[in-house]
Amino acid sequence: MSDFLWFEGIPFPVLDHEKEIIGECHNKFGFRDEDTVILSYPKSGTNWLVETVCLIQTKGNPKWIQSVPIWERSPWIESKRGYLELTNQKGPRLMISHLPIHLFPKSFFSSKAKVICVIKNPRDVLVSGYFFFANKNLIKNPESLATYFDWLCTLNQEAVIYGSWFEHTRAWLSMRARDNFLLVSYEDMIKDTRGTTEKICDFLGKKLELDELDLVLKYSSFQAMKENNMSNYSVLPENIIIKDLILMRKGTTGDWKNHFTVAQAETFDKVFQERMAGFSPSLFPW
Ligand code: A3P
Repeated sequence: MSDFLWFEGIPFPVLDHEKEIIGECHNKFGFRDEDTVILSYPKSGTNWLVETVCLIQTKGNPKWIQSVPIWERSPWIESKRGYLELTNQKGPRLMISHLPIHLFPKSFFSSKAKVICVIKNPRDVLVSGYFFFANKNLIKNPESLATYFDWLCTLNQEAVIYGSWFEHTRAWLSMRARDNFLLVSYEDMIKDTRGTTEKICDFLGKKLELDELDLVLKYSSFQAMKENNMSNYSVLPENIIIKDLILMRKGTTGDWKNHFTVAQAETFDKVFQERMAGFSPSLFPW
């Protein structure tokens, strides 16, 4: 498999992606006001958010999440399979996207469709991404954490899937004052899962009883998702067979401290400060 599919300077996975679809998605995908999108830079906790929103929709009933694969419950807008499914789907739709803002479907910006954007400490995103992508033949093989560090942090940010974390995050954060945009962090999800889930319920206009909320938390926990074959990527679509692909790896914050050298940590701090200058540190609760 080749390394990436390049579209307007952004590297996409080759698998299940086509330039024509990414372009059509940008220009023609029609958002409906009742749609919900989970938006993230890859490895930020996207699937956890999907599981949570699915369970909020069913008021904690696990039947849907235990019988339908996560990528069918919430297709990926910019993938070939997801785009086709979503364009044919009637009624309110749940979907995910990793698109940078300038390639996101244009129709969103004049719709009331809701976006839940999840961000995560980019140091942990880096470590999670390295273990997910290394030696999988899914994208260009990073070979070592040091190489992946260079791609994401220093040398060539354009070589990393979906482009630079910094550009992606800066651009999407500019939307955070909109009524139909909710920003959550993976760190807050870990620290205060109940409180963050309640915030998501409010944003989606869903009123849950206490016992229903308890069920949402129970079935979206790391352990429950790890054991749910419909959510843990152990059963992938027939055209996406990837050996040893582990989604539910650690589910913690701060794992970067186990992997970065002192020099890498210092370099990352410097790059972060430069690239995220102007944003309040309170946006980044890590
Ligand atoms: P780690 O690799 O650090 O463990 P994404 O869904 O965007 O690909 O993100 C994957 C990351 O989210 C992985 O991080 C995974 O373990 C974590 N994750 C997924 N479900 C989770 C859950 N229910 N609770 C905590 N972390 C979860």
